[in-house]
Amino acid sequence: MSRRLLSFIAAFIFLTASAFAQKVAATPPMGWNSWNHFADKVTDADVRAAADAIVSSGMRDAGYIYVNIDDTWEAGRDSNGNIQTNKKFPDMKALADYVHSKGLKLGIYSSPGPKTCAGYEGSYGHEEQDAKTYAAWGIDYLKYDLCGLREVMDKQSGGDRLKAFVIQKAAYEKMHKALVATGRPILFSLCQYGWNDVWAWGPEVGGNAWRTTGDINDTYARMETIGFSQAGLSKYAAPGHWNDPDMLEVGNGGMNADEYRTHMALWAVLAAPLLAGNDLSKMSKETLGMLTNKDVIAVDQDALGKQGDRLWAVGPYEVWAKPLSGGAKAIALFNRGELASPMTLRLKDVGFPQGAKLRDLWKGTEVTAKNGEVTQVVPSHGVLFLKVSQ
Ligand code: GLA
Repeated sequence: MSRRLLSFIAAFIFLTASAFAQKVAATPPMGWNSWNHFADKVTDADVRAAADAIVSSGMRDAGYIYVNIDDTWEAGRDSNGNIQTNKKFPDMKALADYVHSKGLKLGIYSSPGPKTCAGYEGSYGHEEQDAKTYAAWGIDYLKYDLCGLREVMDKQSGGDRLKAFVIQKAAYEKMHKALVATGRPILFSLCQYGWNDVWAWGPEVGGNAWRTTGDINDTYARMETIGFSQAGLSKYAAPGHWNDPDMLEVGNGGMNADEYRTHMALWAVLAAPLLAGNDLSKMSKETLGMLTNKDVIAVDQDALGKQGDRLWAVGPYEVWAKPLSGGAKAIALFNRGELASPMTLRLKDVGFPQGAKLRDLWKGTEVTAKNGEVTQVVPSHGVLFLKVSQ
């Protein structure tokens, strides 16, 4: 085969794969995931209740479409090697039908290793078979969590880190190909905690999103560490391929309202997947209000598809900006300190003239700048979240 023909075929495969990626994740995925609240206790009934609540609360109409089952749905395999569900999930196809009947999509979880993080059955050696099973059930999203593959990588690489990386990458690529071969659009979410600079090669292995960090938990300290560590990653996100600093903890009770508003605002600036992680059947009005704030979601989902980044940081004060379509920008002034403090935004510092329009996204009110500046007291661990436009 001539080199020209080969490069033509390679370009064709790349463009097809990238068109496929954009179709399923043109904007960061939004939905719910069972892990942060239910962990290994999640059942079919919990997932149905989450689907019901997403619809009745208005979250679906706000953009939350994926209902994702995390780890612990798996049993072993039958004599033909087909993956089985355990007794918490008696009929996955029926569950998918139920979720679809609500205008939602169903996500599932597996590992490229023999075992998942919680010690359940992984997809190692059964990738094509599992992909086919997911497609037959009607699955729309796969979170693929490295965990059990680490042992395999260690053994097969003999401790050589480059070899281990090659094994890891091949494992993700293998499942991507298996998913594509099913012909069903299945969003592919890589979960390997940001190792080996996954943002640089995630798109190559078909990732529509990739975790950039270890696990979040429901504390301000952990959320802050994860969220603010994302500075510098904006260039790796694009329609079809998103950095994923892990799922939301909003409404789980471990942070106060200012801290949860910081969590949501920061994730929106980061164009992060917005996967609610609370019990949707028991959420307060305040939690629902945060999760469904239209202005905040619009920042995350903006059609330009550009992730925001840090503009500057001085002590505990940070300003982050995200370019939006139509030349607008979302600007977040974060106070990571222990005391409330006035913070000032100078319009010219973010590329806008004195007369620019300003909106406070959490309050839903217009803000007037004086002499091209806005100063407001930002609570401890809180945020002043603004949209600036001409
Ligand atoms: C890992 C992942 C979590 C969750 C658990 C499930 O820790 O990072 O998000 O999926 O596994 O076992």
